[in-house]
Amino acid sequence: MRAAAAAAADWPPGSVHCEYFTGPAARPPEPVGEERPFRVRLAKSGREYDIPPGETILDVLRRHEIAVKASCELGYCGTCLTAYRSGEPDHRDQILSDADRRRYVLICCARAKTPVLELDL
Ligand code: FES
Repeated sequence: MRAAAAAAADWPPGSVHCEYFTGPAARPPEPVGEERPFRVRLAKSGREYDIPPGETILDVLRRHEIAVKASCELGYCGTCLTAYRSGEPDHRDQILSDADRRRYVLICCARAKTPVLELDL
């Protein structure tokens, strides 16, 4: 995977997709800071949920019976990819490009740097 990524390093952004089936050893996880509580707003329904420290957005949405897809729940498969509309995510995944991070968040591991993160759900 490292060799393939290095060979394609100068390709245009978005033209390479790496899919890991275990955590990539070449790229350590994003530094994880203190977990602060925040809220998620679901743009399509207007519902809001508190995300406390120690729980993920995915955990809370499931607890409220919101159907969301997930697989690895560790930030490396991309199954839980969700667009967001406002707020600033605290990305903690291992796979999203900088361009992806401007539009999407992986809700199994991301938190928020702002008090509210509005998801396109
Ligand atoms: S479920 Fe795999 S990245 Fe979120």
